[in-house]
Amino acid sequence: MVLDVLTASQQPILGFATGSTPLGLYRVLIEKSHADEHLLACWKRMIGYNLDEYVGLHPNHPQSYHYYMQENLYRHLPVAPARIHIPSAEGAVEENCHAYHALLTETGWPDLQILGIGTNGHIGFNEPDDELQIYTHLTALTPVTRQANARFFDSVDEVPQHAVTMGIGDILKAKQVVLLAYGEQKREALRQAFSGAVSTRCPASFLQLHAHVTIFTDQDVRG
Ligand code: F6R
Repeated sequence: MVLDVLTASQQPILGFATGSTPLGLYRVLIEKSHADEHLLACWKRMIGYNLDEYVGLHPNHPQSYHYYMQENLYRHLPVAPARIHIPSAEGAVEENCHAYHALLTETGWPDLQILGIGTNGHIGFNEPDDELQIYTHLTALTPVTRQANARFFDSVDEVPQHAVTMGIGDILKAKQVVLLAYGEQKREALRQAFSGAVSTRCPASFLQLHAHVTIFTDQDVRG
């Protein structure tokens, strides 16, 4: 599906997620692209957006999402640095959020957005709350998310407290969404997300309002 979008237009726009879940997908994208010259060349025309970034980590920090994207995807492909967009969580964060929104408005939102899901039902870093934000914004990470991501750091105390994330409205503006969710620990979040009701307490449930979502999972969430 990702490669179909990549090859379908002169300026394909892809939305990327980080975390453990899409690593296999990124490996396959790299492999397949290197096996086909035409496919490889298509990456030069791609515009890439990322969902989120931790506040307080330098882009060169091994756990920053800037670093993750370089390491796991971009450095293996002929992408133009000027076409790669990752929220900046350094300096004037509010201004950066507005700039990210302005950029999305100018280019258009992704043709295809890749998503993972948190065990608490978050997508991007849109955490369960009384209200959800529509566009790119600064957010506090919940203890559940910081604990879940502690595996990437030496201790939970080192996991940043805040992040910048695209909003729920940004995600719903993608032309299509591909949600990847593997493992028993994602089952309850998936079940809630697609239960037939929408709640800000399970941000992924808003995906039910989108007309073109494809879920890849190894969990049976029916019933
Ligand atoms: C990452 C992101 C998050 C992750 C989610 C699942 O850019 O937006 O929503 O997709 O936390 O993370 P993993 O895949 O590590 O279980």
